[in-house]
Amino acid sequence: MDNRILELLEQQTEGYLSGEVLSKDLHISRTAVWKHIKKLEAQGYKFEASRRLGYRLISKPSKLSIQELMEKLSGTSLIKAIKLHESVDSTQNIAQRLAEDDAPQGTLVIAEQQTSGRGRMGRKWVSPSGKGIWMSLVLRPRLPLQFASQLTLLTAVALCRALKTVAAPLDIGIKWPNDLLIGGKKISGILLESTAEDERLKYVIAGIGISVNLEADDYPEELLPIATSLRMELGRPLDRADIIAAFIIEFEQLYNVYQNEGFGLIRTVWEALSVSLFKPTQLKTPTGIVVGTPIGLDESGALLVKLEDGSLLPIFSAEMSP
Ligand code: BTN
Repeated sequence: MDNRILELLEQQTEGYLSGEVLSKDLHISRTAVWKHIKKLEAQGYKFEASRRLGYRLISKPSKLSIQELMEKLSGTSLIKAIKLHESVDSTQNIAQRLAEDDAPQGTLVIAEQQTSGRGRMGRKWVSPSGKGIWMSLVLRPRLPLQFASQLTLLTAVALCRALKTVAAPLDIGIKWPNDLLIGGKKISGILLESTAEDERLKYVIAGIGISVNLEADDYPEELLPIATSLRMELGRPLDRADIIAAFIIEFEQLYNVYQNEGFGLIRTVWEALSVSLFKPTQLKTPTGIVVGTPIGLDESGALLVKLEDGSLLPIFSAEMSP
């Protein structure tokens, strides 16, 4: 029905089509027409509605296309296949199923919308249609299981560097371990889910969510004080394909450096981009609350926290206070 409404409005070269005509043509009530218009608006279509004249289609959402992405990624070799979906529960689930079916490293799953996007610590991830980048990348690194956290930090560095380029001059920093913030508000999150066999990584699904063109009314009210989008910060919409390409280019470079030379360089760059260091904080770890000042990463990727007595405690997993 949504498509029928769009077809009729698109054919309407003179401009408006009244709710009455739409309801007669489609054999539905005017309230039903209005509900479909609202649903389409949520998908990014923009209409002008006039009580007297009816509805007019002003603009369609910009859609991602595999061909455009492949062109933008032509100088890279990491991406082997792109699976683009209109709406999925979570790109993590799709990528995981593909990985189980032997999809190669470099399989990238992207969705215009996620109905059950998930974040770290069991949280929901707001993923409205056409407004952001919701994607999951299948990786098959030859690494022991405990190195997965280094990949999380590497992904954050790649994303931060990419966004700093495409969304200059925004000041984007990494909050430990891998949230990207602008002025203390989150614009992007990373969720790494790994599967291991005999203590070695079998595959890793790197899930990346970037709030690109969301507007204030795309967020639940309780998130507005802590979340923002590139569009809200820059005051203009951004091209999502450019951002995906910028990220993949950065990621591929860092992933190659990491596989050839280890974690050293990633660690240094992560520390340089971090907004979490040298500020007293509180960390909720699986074994209790830790209060101290993060001063850097150790060679394994753990956060080094200086405690009140001057000792250094490596933290592998925790939730950091804002
Ligand atoms: C976080 O900061 O809590 C991590 C958020 C990760 C969200 C992305 S969006 C694409 C992929 N699919 C999901 O369901 N989650 C990740």
